[in-house]
Amino acid sequence: MKQIALLAVALLMGTTCLAQTQNLPKPNLQRQTLTVMEMFQQRKSVREYSAKDLSEQDLSDLLWAAIGVNRANGNLTAPTAMNRQEILLYVFSRQGVCLYNSKAHSLTQVAEGDHRDILAGFQSFAKEAPVNLLMVGDFDRFGSKDAHAQSMVSMDAGYVSQNIDLFCAAAGLATVPRATMDIAAIKNLLKLNENQVPLLNNPVGYPKE
Ligand SMILES: Cc1cc2nc3c(=O)[nH]c(=O)nc-3n(C[C@H](O)[C@H](O)[C@H](O)COP(=O)(O)O)c2cc1C
Repeated sequence: MKQIALLAVALLMGTTCLAQTQNLPKPNLQRQTLTVMEMFQQRKSVREYSAKDLSEQDLSDLLWAAIGVNRANGNLTAPTAMNRQEILLYVFSRQGVCLYNSKAHSLTQVAEGDHRDILAGFQSFAKEAPVNLLMVGDFDRFGSKDAHAQSMVSMDAGYVSQNIDLFCAAAGLATVPRATMDIAAIKNLLKLNENQVPLLNNPVGYPKE
């Protein structure tokens, strides 16, 4: 009975980040999209979004494209310097905040409730997007926080953000890479340590009708 009630709530609220750990549908590697040249033609920053939630499949494909495992050796769709795989990808939605686990292709809830406003910062358009993907550089995982490390980790976050941009261009979704966000509030909410640094975010949604 309790399970039926939970299922009903899940169906009512949408599935993004509801359960403690939620397996995503397998990424659709046969997804029909634009050609690579058409995709580059479509790549642009978009700052208006439909409020409609992303479908589970679109979210799954988006996260896999961003930083999913694409080879048997565990390497990722985004390159990272020395393969340190130090970029943490958080998903902010109406339902809560989740951390994407590339290896399991799953989401684990790390905070309840709608916190898209702290990612939006002073750019209120960003909180209209149904999801906002936050890239956090984990310098503990990278193994250093010196000037060279800061440059490498920032570049690695840029690759993840560009993967998001290009997937959105190909799939007809709207996004913009952003450095704007309330870093202090994010660190507080996600209980980040001093070596885990919010670097970029991408609000993502269907285009506004
Ligand atoms: C590292 C980086 C940070 C950015 N930060 C923001 C931002 O905080 N807010 C915003 O609206 N756009 C931001 N942008 C998007 C740029 O403004 C946008 O890419 C630029 O105006 C060119 O437009 P286009 O992407 O449509 O070609 C950022 C882009 C990059 C690459």
